[in-house]
Amino acid sequence: MSDELTALRDELEGAVQAADSLEALEDVRVRALGRRGSVTGLMKSLGRAAPEERRERGQALNLLKQAVSDAIDARKAALAEAELEHRLASERIDVTLPVRPAPEGSLHPISQTIDEVTQIFGEMGFRWAEGPDIEDDWYNFTALNIPPEHPARQEMDTFYLAGEAGSRPVLRTHTSPVQIRTMQAAPPPLRVIVPGRTYRSDHDATHSPMFHQVEGLAIGRSIHMGHLKGCLIEFCRAFFGVADLPVRFRPSHFPFTEPSAEVDIGCTREGGQLRIGAGGDWLEILGSGMVHPKVIANCGLDPEEWQGFAFGMGIERIAMLKYGIPDLRTMYDSDLRWLSHYGFRPLDMPGLIAEAAE
Ligand code: PHE
Repeated sequence: MSDELTALRDELEGAVQAADSLEALEDVRVRALGRRGSVTGLMKSLGRAAPEERRERGQALNLLKQAVSDAIDARKAALAEAELEHRLASERIDVTLPVRPAPEGSLHPISQTIDEVTQIFGEMGFRWAEGPDIEDDWYNFTALNIPPEHPARQEMDTFYLAGEAGSRPVLRTHTSPVQIRTMQAAPPPLRVIVPGRTYRSDHDATHSPMFHQVEGLAIGRSIHMGHLKGCLIEFCRAFFGVADLPVRFRPSHFPFTEPSAEVDIGCTREGGQLRIGAGGDWLEILGSGMVHPKVIANCGLDPEEWQGFAFGMGIERIAMLKYGIPDLRTMYDSDLRWLSHYGFRPLDMPGLIAEAAE
């Protein structure tokens, strides 16, 4: 090979080695072996050489071309390998990395309380039932034996929607209409627990125009007052987590139950601090009674065959008592500081799970 060609080969091989990427290498290839490349140019000029020179120079040029193209192939393989190594190293996922903590929300005390109440009654065989927030007069009042002149029907207490007098829809004032809907929906025996929103025209530190109740209803052929008392005593003790909590049944009146009883739990108010448990004082927490025979008949059932008990309580009220929340209105402020103070972690069942596990 002539000095000229040897020099060109060294130069091209040097350029190949210096190429630090596949793109740079491709540039070198085009400059040497492309249509207008230096080696290609020399091969084209071969035609003009004298015949005796042509053979020797042709061989030398072929060797040069081969040497350059081998160098390019080798460099290409090396660069591809290096690039793969780099990707493997840079894209590696460290599976041992701990998961980033997800932003944590919390359960509102109302949801938490509904969960706790339904869990306790669920264990006694009550299933969850629901009804609409917008009711008609019949379900909210008439079927429940609430007479036309009853104060609860007055506009002062009840939110009516637009409509003709006597048939205006109402925002249900209690969850009791779901008693009617449940008895109509499927034949007894039945046991349901009905958490839901209720509405009354009231607004102060212990009343909100929208609040929550939970209704309970058990209907069977031989359900009596003893069952009512047993279930509610059991509930109060489980919910407040006080095994010997005093529970008192105080005669009362509801149009849809007969007899009716209000349920009080024992407490003390020593030093201005309310404590639930044995003590000299009582705290009312719910209304209850044996379902009135007229209500059973209004649902198309025979009151001679079917009887049972019902109860209703305010969710906010029992939540405030259990968790020491002083003002009802803060429940609806959506204040994050309040929510993180009073909120619960999912599946957190203070008192209940802990006791069951003991
Ligand atoms: N509905 C009644 C109220 O809102 C509570 C209640 C329900 C009383 C069932 C007795 C039976 O005050």
